[in-house]
Amino acid sequence: MQKYNWNYPTTIWAGENRIKDLSLACKKLNIKKPLLVTDSGLAKTEIILESLHRLKNENIPVQIYSNVVGNPTGTNVSEGVDFYKKNKCDGVIAFGGGSGLDVGKAIAFMSGQSLPIWDFEDVGDNWTKANSDKIAPIIAVPTTAGTGSEAGRASVILNEATGVKNIIFHPKFLPSVVILDPILTISLPAKITAATGMDALAHNLEAYCAPGFHPMADGIALEGMRLINQWLLIAVRDGSNIEARMNMLAAASMGSTAFQKGLGAIHSLSHPVNAVNNIHHGLSNAIFMPYVLTFNKDVIEQKIIKISHYLELKDRSFNGFIKWVLDLRKQLQMPHKLSEVIKEKDFDIDRLSKMALEDPSTGGNPKKLVLADMKTMYEHSMSGTLF
Ligand SMILES: [Fe+2]
Repeated sequence: MQKYNWNYPTTIWAGENRIKDLSLACKKLNIKKPLLVTDSGLAKTEIILESLHRLKNENIPVQIYSNVVGNPTGTNVSEGVDFYKKNKCDGVIAFGGGSGLDVGKAIAFMSGQSLPIWDFEDVGDNWTKANSDKIAPIIAVPTTAGTGSEAGRASVILNEATGVKNIIFHPKFLPSVVILDPILTISLPAKITAATGMDALAHNLEAYCAPGFHPMADGIALEGMRLINQWLLIAVRDGSNIEARMNMLAAASMGSTAFQKGLGAIHSLSHPVNAVNNIHHGLSNAIFMPYVLTFNKDVIEQKIIKISHYLELKDRSFNGFIKWVLDLRKQLQMPHKLSEVIKEKDFDIDRLSKMALEDPSTGGNPKKLVLADMKTMYEHSMSGTLF
């Protein structure tokens, strides 16, 4: 496989074994003492051990913070910042799935701030309160193809005090160098490949359907969906297919690039069940997808038909697209109903609906939403009733 260097939306080094350029990335950004941030599972793998070894061989004294949990918390960030300062680090290598990347980015950001992290929630102009000159340089290395956090300007962090997943935003959250190496994703189990891939699909799809004039985002989203249609099932069935893995990594980065335009109710409904019921983000997106699409049908029908044409689906009607989503989920062995992953007694619909309405993604939904709409979509997702 050839190497590719892109400079949009940031510097991206793509291709097999590009991880070997990690020390080059540190040198390019003048990082002399990086903090590598990852989760505890990944910290013990060859992928990380080899990277640490290589950096040390290049005389780059790297520190590691690996206390990151799935659905990462504010505590992860503050602990990481303390560790960063104690070790006098001067840059962050955010390494991993969404959790490692989000915490790494947030540590780089918070290492230079005096206000609490929650002051920078993605609401209004909150980000302008930050000291922009004090954000440490970030290198991002994704090991899953889904969140696209490596090409995004936000981190999703759980506030343990409120139980809410907050989106923390600043334009400088965008990493300065991203390494997309398909070798790092080949050991991902099929289930995680499927769920993260559906997150990437949700990003591209919601971005494309979000209202507003943003043809760049629309173009990227369409091609991102085409790559997912072509490669996701192959990546799930044959994890060692490098071409499929590379294309899925690209599609994931494209998703987060596109969703600068906005997301929508798939994500609004997902974030609360991720935070409260600890459901995997990609899995919940996959479950909610057809219910949200059919709820929005009257305002997105033409856009969905355009996607169907671009994807060259057999049936290029709105219902044909829904059938494509349902078939894809079935082939990925994902559940159709939320009740298959959350028991009725653990499902606090009033609380979840309120959280969903307040989620920042709600503003990007093609239809304006009220509390009753969230409730309806949750109810339908539980019972499996499509509109
Ligand atoms: Fe997502």
